[in-house]
Amino acid sequence: MKQHVVQLLTNVVELTETEILPLIETPPSREQGDIAFPCFQLAKKFRQAPPQIAQQILDKLNQLPLDDFGIKEVKQVGPYLNFFFDRKQYASHLLEQGMESLLSSTQIGEGKTVVVEYSSPNIAKHFQVYHIRSTMIGQSLANTYAALGYKVEKMNHLGDWGTQFGKLTAAFLKWGDEEKVKENPLSELVALYVKFHEEAENHPELVDEGRMWFKKLEDGDEEAVRIWQWFKDESLKVFERLYSQLNVSFDHYLGESFYSNKMDDVIQKIKEKDLLEESDGALVVRLDEQNIPPCIIQKSDGASIYATRDLASALYREEQFHPDKILYVVDQRQALHFQQVFSVLKKMDYAFADGCEHIAFGFMTIQGKIGSTRKGDGLLLDEVLDYAVERAMNIIEEKNPNLENKHEVAQAIGIGAIVFNDLKHHRTHNIDFNWDEAFTFEGKTGPYVQYTHARIKSLLRRASEEEATASQSVTPHPSYESDVAWDMIYALQQYPSVLVETTKKNDPSQIAKYLLELCQLFNRYYAQERFFVEDKAEVQAKIALASHVASTLKHGLELLSIKAPDAI
Ligand code: ARG
Repeated sequence: MKQHVVQLLTNVVELTETEILPLIETPPSREQGDIAFPCFQLAKKFRQAPPQIAQQILDKLNQLPLDDFGIKEVKQVGPYLNFFFDRKQYASHLLEQGMESLLSSTQIGEGKTVVVEYSSPNIAKHFQVYHIRSTMIGQSLANTYAALGYKVEKMNHLGDWGTQFGKLTAAFLKWGDEEKVKENPLSELVALYVKFHEEAENHPELVDEGRMWFKKLEDGDEEAVRIWQWFKDESLKVFERLYSQLNVSFDHYLGESFYSNKMDDVIQKIKEKDLLEESDGALVVRLDEQNIPPCIIQKSDGASIYATRDLASALYREEQFHPDKILYVVDQRQALHFQQVFSVLKKMDYAFADGCEHIAFGFMTIQGKIGSTRKGDGLLLDEVLDYAVERAMNIIEEKNPNLENKHEVAQAIGIGAIVFNDLKHHRTHNIDFNWDEAFTFEGKTGPYVQYTHARIKSLLRRASEEEATASQSVTPHPSYESDVAWDMIYALQQYPSVLVETTKKNDPSQIAKYLLELCQLFNRYYAQERFFVEDKAEVQAKIALASHVASTLKHGLELLSIKAPDAI
């Protein structure tokens, strides 16, 4: 709609499309107009009072064939020009165009690349609740960028390097049992690691042994590498199972270990820029001007650290992909770390540092509990997911026991409930997950959106039985003129701009909130309008509209990485 108005205006004001677009506004209510063009900003340029400018533009507009632009009327109210669309013309145009081609006109990412780094769990440990948030926020951002035409590189920066793996190797060789680890890798490895620390209190020589194994690993010793690789493979099997349940996938698994041989190069580059300083035997880059503590590059014992690996990974990403943006979807507790890393990159004069962004997010608890690394004192993600699916299954058994693909649907709803609950809040908020709340079909939940979608699908099935399928051409039917219909059509055409907003703010809750609103609009419409009336043309018109709503809901859910079953 904005596009129509912008094009129309280029005929009467001496401004380009790109100059006009940011001036366009959405009036608070449809009675005031569908699109507004305030003339304040033009006052300087045209040296006239805004209402006068508005009047002159209106006079010129009235000489144009407004209908060709889908516009019925333009009204001037003081400094504003308010545009009213011809509802039925615009609706038929939109519905004929369809959701996919509506999006294809908003490919703002064409020719651009974004690296999205997310999830990044630590091997040989359980997935933590903050990893779920990172995983889902990251995946949905990656999906949304891709939908807008960006080339997206989905990156998992696995925590797979550090002295802890020397300790774990020592512990495994002493007390480990291969079969047990295979059966239950993460819990077993965590238990071994805990035992190592307990034993080390009375046997300090264990610490040296751990150090020795890490040294061996760094030097590429065959046995050390083999054991570490096995820990990693077993952990990845568990992670990948979770990812497939969550519809998550990556283009690259490049963990911290990948950068371990790229440290010298980074340190050399920092040195060349004359930024490296010694401090208590460690090497650091001072960040006094930024008013933040120095970034430690190398520890006094020569070991490289987390931040240095992040510098190496940033350089690698720049070199490989020349991205326009690199997004780091990581828990807010690491804010200082990323400030330091990005500041060092800036001091090294890398222009791409400006495109690096920490996408921080708040905590999530599950009914007040924090998910944890060890069984017993918290909740584990796979248990949470299994329980969610079980719960969804109970609902299906109660509501629709004859449903065909029950298991698949239970999976979609159970997991959808958790994921939607995560993504509907602004990412920086702390959230608590409540089982009852997340599973209601009436509240602001994933199941509510899925259910609305399935309901429309069943309507479409019934219509096709009655041979009223949406045809290729959509007639400009008067039923599109009612406020309930128009509000929905208005929301449908906003969908691409919701995706743009999501990428601007890097916040998937924009999409989740939009979907809730669209469901509300549809349910209101559905409560007021009769679908299967005598007049076939009217049935077709309504079906065309409902079908567009369904595809938008499905598309939006899928961007959030949630499935939309056709029947529930
Ligand atoms: N593995 C880290 C953790 O679990 C997260 C990694 C974040 N990404 C990064 N580039 N530092 O806390």
